[in-house]
Amino acid sequence: MVRIPTLCCIVAATTIVSAYDTTFGFDGEPQIENRTIDEIYEAALAEGGIVTVWHGGDETDQQDGLKQEFEARFPNITLNITVDVSKYHDGNIDRQLATGGVYVDSVILQTLHDYPRWDNEGALLHYLPLDFYSIQPSFREIRGAWYGVSVFGWSFLWNKNKVSEGPKEFEDVLKPEFKDKLVLTYPNDDDAVLYAFDLIMQQYGYEWFEKLLAQNPRWVRGTATPVTLLSQSNSTSAVSFTSGVGLTPPDSIGLAFPTKGLFVTWPQRAAILKDAPHPEGAKLLHNYLLSKEHQSSLSSWSVRSDVSAPGGYADLADIPSTNPNGFEGFMANRERVERLKLFFEDKIGTPQGLSPLKDDL
Ligand SMILES: *[C@@H]1O[C@H](CO)[C@@H](O)[C@H](O)[C@H]1NC(C)=O
Ligand SMILES: *[C@@H]1O[C@H](CO)[C@@H](O)[C@H](O)[C@H]1NC(C)=O
Ligand SMILES: *[C@@H]1O[C@H](CO)[C@@H](O)[C@H](O)[C@H]1NC(C)=O
Ligand SMILES: *[C@@H]1O[C@H](CO)[C@@H](O)[C@H](O)[C@H]1NC(C)=O
Repeated sequence: MVRIPTLCCIVAATTIVSAYDTTFGFDGEPQIENRTIDEIYEAALAEGGIVTVWHGGDETDQQDGLKQEFEARFPNITLNITVDVSKYHDGNIDRQLATGGVYVDSVILQTLHDYPRWDNEGALLHYLPLDFYSIQPSFREIRGAWYGVSVFGWSFLWNKNKVSEGPKEFEDVLKPEFKDKLVLTYPNDDDAVLYAFDLIMQQYGYEWFEKLLAQNPRWVRGTATPVTLLSQSNSTSAVSFTSGVGLTPPDSIGLAFPTKGLFVTWPQRAAILKDAPHPEGAKLLHNYLLSKEHQSSLSSWSVRSDVSAPGGYADLADIPSTNPNGFEGFMANRERVERLKLFFEDKIGTPQGLSPLKDDL
C-alpha cells in the first residue's frame, strides 16, 4: 500500500513559526484598565509618545480633526494616523501579521468581518478601556478584542441652493426633478454602499434600480466625493444618498433619513494589535475616543448608551428604519457580497478613476 503523506505530516515536517494561536486561544483573559486617563498619558509619554493608527476612510484629511484634538489634549503625543479605504488597509495588516513586522498599534475600520478573524488568529489585544460598559452592549466584544468607537451611516443629502425640497424616501430620488442631479458612490466599490443598495432593492425591487439608472446618476469613488460635488456651485450634482455628514451639517446642506425605507448605520470598529509597538499610546487613544468628553463632541450618534444624539435626533435604538448591528452579518457573508458586487459591475461598470484618496475630488 502506498502511503500518501497527509497534510498534518507535511506541515509537521516543515518548520512553521507562527506567533498566533489559530485554534482555541485559551489565554484570552482581558486586561482591565484601572488607571486614570492621565496615568495612561504618562505611560504613553514614557513609551515614546507616539501611536500609529490605520483608519478607514476615503479622503486623506478625514481624521485631521481628531489628530488636532488629540494632540492638543495630550501634548507631546503624536497621533500618527493614516487614512485609507478599509478594504486596502486590512490586506496590509494581514501582511504585517504574516511577516511578523507589526508596526501599527490601532486599527479602526469599516471591514467589521476582519475583527473576529484577526481575533481568532490571536492578533488582537484583549483590553477593556475605562468606560467599556458604557458602550452599547452590541457594539462591544465581551473580552474587549474590539468595540465600536463611532457610528457612521448614510442619509439623504442635498444642496439647498440647488434643490428646494430633498428626497425623504428612496422612491423620491426617482422624481423627474432629480434627473441628472444625483451623485452616488459605486456600490461595487464600497461595501457599506453596497449594503444600502441591497436593503433598498430588497424593499423596492429591481425595478427601482432600473428607474434610478434612467435618472442618469453620476457614479463616483469614495463616499465623501458626492458631498464635495454637490456642495460645489459649478457642479450639476445636487443630491446623494450614499454619504454621511453626521447629524449637524452646514446650513447649506439638507439632511433626511427615510422612515419607510431602511438606511445603513454601523459602529466603526477599533482594536489594538497584540504586538503593537506602542500599546500605551493605543490605550490612550482608545480611552480618549470612548470618553464622554469626546463622544459628546461628535456630530453623529454615540456608541455610548449615556450620550444622547445631537440635533434633537432620537437614540439609534429607537429608530425602526436602521439597525446598526445588521452590517456585520452582511459583511461576514463574503460570497454574497462578491456576487452582489459583480451584479452591479455588470449594470454600471467597474469603478472608474483613481482611489478616492488619490483623485482630486
Ligand atoms: C491594574 O491592572 C493591571 C493590568 O491589568 C493589573 O496587573 C493590576 O493588578 C491592577 N491593579 C489593581 C489595583 O487592580
Ligand atoms: C513636552 O515636551 C517639551 C520639550 O521636551 C517639554 O518642555 C514639555 O514639558 C513637555 N510637555 C509635557 C506635558 O510633557
Ligand atoms: C507612522 O505611520 C506610518 C504609516 O503607517 C509608518 O510608515 C511610520 O513608520 C509611522 N511613523 C512612526 C514614527 O512610527
Ligand atoms: C468647480 O469649483 C471648484 C471649487 O469650488 C473647483 O475646484 C473645480 O475645479 C471647479 N470645476 C469646474 C468643472 O470648473
